[in-house]
Amino acid sequence: MIRTRFTEEFGVEHPVVQGGMQWVGRAPLVAAVANSGALGFITALTQPTPEDLAKEIARCRELTDRPFGVNLTILPAITPPPYAEYRQAIIDAGVPIVETAGSNPIEHLEHFHTHGIKVIHKCTSVRHAVKAESLGVDAVSIDGFECAGHPGEDDIPGLVLIPAAADRLSIPMLASGGFADARGLVAALALGADGINMGTRFMATVESGIHQNVKDRLVEAGERDTQLIFRQLRNTSRVADNAVSREVVERLNDGAAFEDVRELVAGARGVGVYESGDLDAGIWSAGMVQGLINDIPTCDELVTRIVREAAGIIRNRLGGALVEPAPVAAG
Ligand SMILES: Cc1cc2nc3c(=O)[nH]c(=O)nc-3n(C[C@H](O)[C@H](O)[C@H](O)COP(=O)(O)O)c2cc1C
Repeated sequence: MIRTRFTEEFGVEHPVVQGGMQWVGRAPLVAAVANSGALGFITALTQPTPEDLAKEIARCRELTDRPFGVNLTILPAITPPPYAEYRQAIIDAGVPIVETAGSNPIEHLEHFHTHGIKVIHKCTSVRHAVKAESLGVDAVSIDGFECAGHPGEDDIPGLVLIPAAADRLSIPMLASGGFADARGLVAALALGADGINMGTRFMATVESGIHQNVKDRLVEAGERDTQLIFRQLRNTSRVADNAVSREVVERLNDGAAFEDVRELVAGARGVGVYESGDLDAGIWSAGMVQGLINDIPTCDELVTRIVREAAGIIRNRLGGALVEPAPVAAG
């Protein structure tokens, strides 16, 4: 067992988290993560309505009696989803932990805290992490440049971002982006984090509900097989390398506007990849950490292995590197 401030304060057995994943973070995966002793998050906006979210939470409860959370991603949109109603569905369902991401969580924080719900805010820079702490969030999850999804615009990898954030925060912090195994967990703890948050690694598990072709591709792909789209729009997103993501990058490099790629990046096409297994059907998220994924275990096998091997690394590899200095000869 590895005990950290995160496991203590959040009542979770292992310092391992499965962050929100659009189209992927559904009840069977989240329940399997919870049953493994880690913390999983249902992705609120994957559910078409707040009523559907309430049903998904109930479905998850049927599959586990361990704690799990809900991710509420707040992104600027021309016609935003009914965030307040999704928030209310989370509160009414008595979910104990929420992961917020995308922008400042202030509008929702007080509502969650009034109902005793802990909030982990996920962000991509030290300044946003410090701001989130000052607003009163209970923990921060910090995503390095390696991560799948939105890495922000600063391009700071975890090796610098995590200790830089640790120096400035006093609340528990999860290191996110590029984690897949025990080595990553031990490194994150050494860098000052209290646990790890993983996305891509949990996609390639038995219980994640995506098409087998996508899981197989994650095993086969290397660390170079991602693309950064929307750099020019300052809304960067790290996605899997495929015909569509390459075309989006090319068109935007050639001066195209968002309107010119809108059809290529449509969410409906992206979800089609996970459903049909056609890897070129649209844009789908994946991180550089693909290069460290070599199998498709159950969530329980994955989390158990990470924690067991991390203990071994700490005890043997790190502990074994400590030697007593040779006594200085007298005289
Ligand atoms: C398929 C996929 C969908 C994601 N969707 C969301 C999302 O809707 N909201 C969010 O906050 N993070 C989202 N993320 C980011 C993850 O929660 C996590 O921060 C990220 O995957 C960590 O990087 P890693 O993939 O290297 O582990 C997504 C990641 C993946 C792989």
